[in-house]
Amino acid sequence: MKYIVGNWKSNKNTKEVEDWFKNFADLYRQNKRIATDRLEIVICPPFVYLSLVNKLKIGYGLPIKIGVQDVSPFSNGAYTGEISANMLEELVEYVIIGHSERRSNFHEDDKMLTEKVKKSRESRLQPIYCVQDSKTYIPNEVSIVAYEPTWAIGTGISDTPESANKAAEFIKQKNQVSTVIYGGSVTPENINSFLTTNNIDGVLPGGASLDPVKFWEIIVNASKI
Ligand code: PGA
Repeated sequence: MKYIVGNWKSNKNTKEVEDWFKNFADLYRQNKRIATDRLEIVICPPFVYLSLVNKLKIGYGLPIKIGVQDVSPFSNGAYTGEISANMLEELVEYVIIGHSERRSNFHEDDKMLTEKVKKSRESRLQPIYCVQDSKTYIPNEVSIVAYEPTWAIGTGISDTPESANKAAEFIKQKNQVSTVIYGGSVTPENINSFLTTNNIDGVLPGGASLDPVKFWEIIVNASKI
């Protein structure tokens, strides 16, 4: 199973979300023969679009799963502005935790991130835990890790497949982690160089996931492996 996890970050308005799904669904309908059964395709939109995205996904009959980009380290209660794992349980299957943009802009540390993982697990959400290098701390309950060197994010300069593969191998050796995916300037052109390595089990495209055509091309290329 190869993972393709699109991280929309803080982008799109309602109309743009609807357009993305319409265009993506058109591409899916025209090319239904591609083998998506060995792919776990996940889209992580902003929280406010979760209901809409679930409705569109079902309406168009798309073989994709939904995730979120963050979760509260707390349970339900007096935590103004927070969105708990308990609330998300019925809306999504995956949650990205520890993205470098959250670590740097919102000062999220290992302790807080470990709580987020714990809360996600209690609510049956699958964490996709981002690390910025192979030595970053990984909480015990994590089974999917995204290796994302900060310098490769949004820069158009991806890590080399050899270096990313080495990092993925190291992460698997040192932790109870079964799956490592790569993120950082993933494109339709470079995806297969990562997916054909021994230790990389998927990708986490940000910028390329915003465009339904590019995201579709990533899926088509991954389906050929
Ligand atoms: P990028 O983002 O694909 O735009 O580099 C990846 C990420 O931040 O997860």
